[in-house]
Amino acid sequence: MARIPESFIKDVVDRSDIEELIGRYVELKRSSGNYVGLCPFHSEKTPSFTVFPDTRSFYCFGCGVGGDVITFVSKMENLSYVDAVKMLAERAGMSMPAEDPAAAAASKQRETILKANREAARYYHACLKDEKLGLAAREYIAKRRLSAATVTHFGLGFAPDGWDNLVKHLKYKGFSEADIITSGLARRSKTGGAIDFFRNRLIFPIIDLRGNVIAFGGRVLDNSLPKYLNSSDTPVFSKKNNLFALNFAKNKGNDRLILAEGYMDVISMHQAGFTEAVATLGTAITPEQARIMSRYAKKIVVAYDTDRAGQEAVKKANRLFGELSVDVKILAVSEGKDPDEFIRENGAEKFEMLLEGAKSRLDYELGILRKTVDLKTPEGKINYLREAVKSVAKEHSAVTREVYAAVLAGETGVSAEQIKKDIDKVVGINGKKEALNEIKEAEKKLAVPDVYGDRSLEMRTVKAEEGIIAALLKNNDYLHTVDGVGPDLFITEKNRRVFEAVAERIKNGEETEIYSFAGDLSPEDISHLAAIDARSRLTQKFTKRETADYVAVLKEASEVKSAGPLNELSDDEFRKLFKKK
Ligand code: UTP
Ligand code: MN
Repeated sequence: MARIPESFIKDVVDRSDIEELIGRYVELKRSSGNYVGLCPFHSEKTPSFTVFPDTRSFYCFGCGVGGDVITFVSKMENLSYVDAVKMLAERAGMSMPAEDPAAAAASKQRETILKANREAARYYHACLKDEKLGLAAREYIAKRRLSAATVTHFGLGFAPDGWDNLVKHLKYKGFSEADIITSGLARRSKTGGAIDFFRNRLIFPIIDLRGNVIAFGGRVLDNSLPKYLNSSDTPVFSKKNNLFALNFAKNKGNDRLILAEGYMDVISMHQAGFTEAVATLGTAITPEQARIMSRYAKKIVVAYDTDRAGQEAVKKANRLFGELSVDVKILAVSEGKDPDEFIRENGAEKFEMLLEGAKSRLDYELGILRKTVDLKTPEGKINYLREAVKSVAKEHSAVTREVYAAVLAGETGVSAEQIKKDIDKVVGINGKKEALNEIKEAEKKLAVPDVYGDRSLEMRTVKAEEGIIAALLKNNDYLHTVDGVGPDLFITEKNRRVFEAVAERIKNGEETEIYSFAGDLSPEDISHLAAIDARSRLTQKFTKRETADYVAVLKEASEVKSAGPLNELSDDEFRKLFKKK
């Protein structure tokens, strides 16, 4: 992590009101001195996300995410730790102190890459406009019915045929070969030279929300393969965190976003007036992309191809948006057509009608099912009901499930009551599965290492580790109570690191508020520290006696460790382990 002076971070935290800031993203209610709300990092119906004004930290008892105001902003806005500090500093009207050399170099390189990308976009655009060079590409664009205004709006371009047209151009503009390669615009050839990544392709610049050109997509002009190429991740581009055309779509402001599969669908929709369309960048939608979209709109229409791959993609989108409590509709473009072709053939008005008629997940799934069965035969009805019941059981609302039980009854002639019973059965099974998964997830989060071969002993030890850390945070003067506890007694790496940092600061007479560990601990470890602090409020009394008990547990456990696995313990040693202090 870059070294921003601690005093500066302290100022930033001091001047950022954590309740006010988090309150911009989460509706918070007061609850016994703290604030609670629905967690923005996982889907929940009862609030377990808590903001603690006293330690200026937050923690979600549901999903285990926690930290200080800086961690919150960095998670919420997908920013690096340093960028989150910058954003908060900017909000508070503070200017950043000089960065350390490594961070300064990295940020300088990002700037260089962004400049190279911008220059490349200009170059590609000029090639497209060039009378001779861009002729074939312009013909192709005309065939796809894209207007001159659309071409300019999206900054479309053409990468001419040849090995190193762009490389030469960028070198002429002063960029080094190393920077050109880091930018992903060229790659190393076997003979050691640099060759253009995009050759003989129509170019789609990908632009982020700040207007930076961060990457490109490129399509062939004929039927050769691969049809599309996309930039790989670079220091300025991460595929999973960006969406094509969100820079335009976010300004529409009508609470609806359309998710399409690719560049051409999006461009075609924008040209027809549907400027709320976005697309992923050559991959299936990621949880990050779903979360970003859910911040701009509460209604999402998924406009994917209706082929097999498309259906799988729809499932994934349904699941991700479902978890975010976003209203998802699925657009059924008739057989084998994508939105681009549909608009070209039928026009914008018909497409709007299609959008308005977009189906809920359930209607969409039932529609697909119906096509695979013959409802006139008993076997067809049985097969249909078996799958349809599973589909209905995924609905959270009991009313919706009841309504659909009646719909299925009407379709098959089986009584609604019987169908409802089957649905309830599946709902019960799903509920149990979910509960089991939650327990598993919670255990994973504790990350208890297998040291003694006895899970309960390990859990007890980890609990003691956390107990000591929490007690020290709250009462710095307990350091002498935990005298004799060294880092070597800790069985979890994370707790050991956190303990060392806490003890060190207390020894030096420094403060131990969560944010103050920015220079000593990674953002993940700071998040872990916030989690320990939050959990301790529910379980600890913070007395000296209790803390001494935790110390005893750690010491005993370490004796077991040095004695080897549990099954090699003598009876005496075994009893000692459970002896009450
Ligand atoms: P499609 O092949 O459905 O694209 O791929 P399309 O937009 O309808 O293409 P046109 O109409 O023939 O131009 C959808 C998206 O999948 C990614 C691209 O992002 C594309 O826009 N894709 C597709 C690739 O990344 N690579 C490929 O080879 C094909
Ligand atoms: Mn298409």
